[in-house]
Amino acid sequence: MTIRPATPDDVATVSELEEQLFGADAWSAASVREELTGQRRRAVVAVDDTGVVGYAVTLLTDDVVDLQRIAVVPSQRRTGVAARLLDEVRGAGRTDGAHRMLLEVSAANTGALAFYATQGFVQIDQRPRYYRDGSDALVLRATLGGAACGGRAS
Ligand SMILES: CC(C)(COP(=O)(O)OP(=O)(O)OC[C@H]1O[C@@H](n2cnc3c(N)ncnc32)[C@H](O)[C@@H]1OP(=O)(O)O)[C@@H](O)C(=O)NCCC(=O)NCCS
Repeated sequence: MTIRPATPDDVATVSELEEQLFGADAWSAASVREELTGQRRRAVVAVDDTGVVGYAVTLLTDDVVDLQRIAVVPSQRRTGVAARLLDEVRGAGRTDGAHRMLLEVSAANTGALAFYATQGFVQIDQRPRYYRDGSDALVLRATLGGAACGGRAS
């Protein structure tokens, strides 16, 4: 498995994965294109001999990197793919001069919360009934050098 920067050629594949993994909350193809190739973004994909098995996207604002997305196909979970993707965008954030990484995650997403905890994220805020299923959003923060995934907080 290798990690490489995303390219415009990955838009179709990542759009399909968005549909599979996020359903009603999936990014549109136009959003995927913007997130993979837009200004101030860093996007990486994990690839094995079956194709793209995971991806991560960040957005840089001043000295903060928001983790916009991190996702791995179910068949490849718990093999360290997300940890490697996160390491990659964390390193890119440091290169870009950022000092911390922020993310928003549903309080109901226990798998992601467990993952972020292993990666050094701590909760700094909570937004009640933020998601369409009525769940709260938790805002998590990690210092660059210790962790990462994303939304935005002040
Ligand atoms: C969250 C997600 C990205 C984790 O990806 P992953 O590749 O399975 O994570 P890793 O293998 O790197 O996990 C590293 C460690 O995090 C913890 N962890 C990861 N997923 C976990 C889970 N579902 N339950 C408990 N702990 C978990 C474990 O400690 C794991 O180490 P271990 O497998 O040796 O025990 C993946 O489950 C996913 O794509 N979920 C759906 C999309 C999503 O919710 N993304 C986050 C919001 S954008």
